[in-house]
Amino acid sequence: MRAGAILRLGSLKDVGHFQGHAQGLGAQIPCDPEILTGVQSPLRWPLNRGPFKIGNRIAVQPMEGWDGTPDGAPSENTIRRWQRFGRSGGKLIWGGEAVAVCHEGRANPNQLLAAPRTQAGLTHLRTVLRREHILTTGSDDGLVIGLQLTHSGRYCRPNDHSHPEPRILYHHPFLDKRLNLPPDYPLLTDGEIESIIEEFHRAAFMAWQLGFDFVDIKHCHGYLGHEFLSAHTREGCYGGTFEGRTRFLREVVQGIRSRCPGLQIGVRLSAIDTVPFHGDPSQTVNGKSSIGVAETGPELLPYRWGFGVNPLDPTDSDLSEPERFLSLLEKLGIQLVNITAGSPYYNPHIQRPALYPPSDGYLPPEDPLVGVARQMEVTRQLKQRFPNLLMVGSGYTYVQDFLPNVAQAAVREGWVDFVGLGRMVLTYPELLWEASEGTQIQRKRICRTFSDCTTAPRNGLPSGCYPLDEYYKKSDLAEKLKDAKKR
Ligand SMILES: Cc1cc2nc3c(=O)[nH]c(=O)nc-3n(C[C@H](O)[C@H](O)[C@H](O)COP(=O)(O)O)c2cc1C
Ligand code: SF4
Repeated sequence: MRAGAILRLGSLKDVGHFQGHAQGLGAQIPCDPEILTGVQSPLRWPLNRGPFKIGNRIAVQPMEGWDGTPDGAPSENTIRRWQRFGRSGGKLIWGGEAVAVCHEGRANPNQLLAAPRTQAGLTHLRTVLRREHILTTGSDDGLVIGLQLTHSGRYCRPNDHSHPEPRILYHHPFLDKRLNLPPDYPLLTDGEIESIIEEFHRAAFMAWQLGFDFVDIKHCHGYLGHEFLSAHTREGCYGGTFEGRTRFLREVVQGIRSRCPGLQIGVRLSAIDTVPFHGDPSQTVNGKSSIGVAETGPELLPYRWGFGVNPLDPTDSDLSEPERFLSLLEKLGIQLVNITAGSPYYNPHIQRPALYPPSDGYLPPEDPLVGVARQMEVTRQLKQRFPNLLMVGSGYTYVQDFLPNVAQAAVREGWVDFVGLGRMVLTYPELLWEASEGTQIQRKRICRTFSDCTTAPRNGLPSGCYPLDEYYKKSDLAEKLKDAKKR
């Protein structure tokens, strides 16, 4: 499917046309025709359960900016982004952004780092977020702020954005080739894994001391935590069986519980995945981008490198192990879960449905609305199966003008507890707050999924909304991005 053949949602006259369009695509997306406001709005319902008192149903997803200082502290751009997280009015701030537990585990040389030298900076981020939040909502009652802890594993680039330094758990038939890894490229040893687990304990202790309400032990998007879950072919105690593949999680949790009593834990999980995709050179549009197709080959079956993937048809999902994983979270006393999908590196259309691909991506192989519906449906099924977990859903930005209608319906019908906002926060953080306030929404601020916020970091520039946010549009970064796109 070409981007040109996909109907632009901004051209739809009203919500009725959106509903009809989604139906025509076979995309099951709940959508309320009328937006409710104030206490009537499901988006304003508080949720109190166990230790959590969360003031409304708007969540801000972790959104990294590739704009920290080389030693891992926030820059002015990072501070501005966290202020905008606060301005969203969302009462659940899921981790702010991925913060590396050690230098070697950074996804880029500007990723934030949990280290003694960055403590003051991380505290400042929380403070400015809270301040802005109070300006929007009038109070910080029910505001819950977490810190997302990560090790980037296969996608580490700690020292130079153009120099990958992968730390892998197993050899992957396609992903190794994409990084030019030879067959004897070393795997992380069990001893190295134990040290990384220690780094998670240390980082969580720091987050606890700094006053964060929870830490997210990131298990998504192809980074280390997620790679453990698909380490079927790894030998030793951190791979193979479900027990082995979840040992990392259990040991991280055990250490946090003993060192940081009272610190809550969340997990962001890629609950489904597929094989890697690539642009098909035989399906080029305008001589430039090509349409995404799945990697294939007889050596792939049964597929032994995925989590939440049907091993006999790895372009299809299978929720049996993700369900087992959520049962494990319940046993470990973890209530906060954020459901996402796939990876921005090898199947971005699954992870962040978009009309326009990033510079290193491919044209969407499906209408992006189908991608939104897929993430929503998986979350709905998991929520039904695990009603006691507090669940955040992801991938909503693509519904654009109709996000308030979809978000309201999803919460009202119990498909999800919190609607998580990713890219929309970069352009129009207050969208759901304003809609549920009864304020006319500002269409010119709506994210149109141009993907520049992904293209920029792929070219070594900070992430941000270059097309719509005046701050980036007017900066010299915009010129640099233009040049990078021409190359
Ligand atoms: C620029 C950018 C940075 C992101 N950084 C993170 C991150 O640090 N941690 C994470 O879990 N997800 C990250 N994501 C994924 C988002 O949280 C979200 O899942 C994704 O954008 C889909 O949601 P959306 O449709 O609302 O944008 C990032 C996405 C983008 C576009
Ligand atoms: S660059 Fe802006 S408009 Fe484009 S996807 Fe990112 S947030 Fe949306």
